[in-house]
Amino acid sequence: MLNHHASTPQLSSRLTHFPPPAHMQQMLTDAEFEQFSELLAQMSGILLPPGKKQLVMNRLSCRLRHFGLARFHDYFLLATRKGNEAEKRKLIDLLTTNETYFFREPAHFEFLRSVILPAYPAAYPFRLWSAAASSGEEAYSSAMLLAEHFNRRSAWTVSGTDINEGILERARSAKYPIEACKHIPERYLKPYCLKGIAQEQGNLLIKSDIRSHVHFDSFNLNSPTWGSVGLFDVILLRNVMIYFAAQTRDALINRIIGQLKPGGYLFVGHAESVNDPSGRLERIRPSIFRLRD
Ligand SMILES: C[S@@+](CC[C@H](N)C(=O)[O-])C[C@H]1O[C@@H](n2cnc3c(N)ncnc32)[C@H](O)[C@@H]1O
Repeated sequence: MLNHHASTPQLSSRLTHFPPPAHMQQMLTDAEFEQFSELLAQMSGILLPPGKKQLVMNRLSCRLRHFGLARFHDYFLLATRKGNEAEKRKLIDLLTTNETYFFREPAHFEFLRSVILPAYPAAYPFRLWSAAASSGEEAYSSAMLLAEHFNRRSAWTVSGTDINEGILERARSAKYPIEACKHIPERYLKPYCLKGIAQEQGNLLIKSDIRSHVHFDSFNLNSPTWGSVGLFDVILLRNVMIYFAAQTRDALINRIIGQLKPGGYLFVGHAESVNDPSGRLERIRPSIFRLRD
């Protein structure tokens, strides 16, 4: 199990530093921005264009306050200190963009429901990978379609992975603000979602028979080795490659192809492109690809 709590190296968990005075608004210098950008690119592949300086400042200033630090450089040193892996993870978490919602890019889900799934028998152990799952909406949206198609004894699974460990905790909780309903088609709300009452008023919860098929794990798409993730019938790699350099994207597509079963499908975000010089992928729709048998 992963540790999601940032440690405060020199202090006990019951003490913290005094915050710097309000007039001391920390500014991020260009050199500090470069340091954080390089670290993020090295760890995750995410590129931060120069225009993101304000964003980095806004997202990291809470950690400077938390540790009572006056300069971003001090925070950089603290987070990259040997043995302080938890804070480095926290830093990466803070710099990722996690925007997502249920049934985002609905044409993909319609294709899965009406074209892909009917080709599989009801007892087939279908495997789907949501490879940049964020808070889990993409994984649960897919799971609702799989639950509708496969019978109860089928061992279908949805694997949701992301580099951001904090966001995966939210995914595992399967709890969302009730407003998330507006993206879920009516036909899936009643069978697969619960509306919170009493203390859970204002929340939407994914039902346990869906949750039992869905697992979330921390996974860095740009780590040098992937271990044994297995082969999938469908991989959703959506709205993550936009943050990577072209070379990183091409290398990732090559690795992703290696995780598809013959005839398996890859979905990318509508704004993303796929470069496959090997010709192993057949383009079915603008953002839907199929591994040739
Ligand atoms: C904008 S969200 C996309 C979520 C979902 N796929 C969608 O389309 O709605 C991008 C996600 O990619 C994750 N991410 C960024 N770099 C990653 C990496 N190297 N490995 C795994 N996940 C990464 C981020 O943490 C974030 O949750």
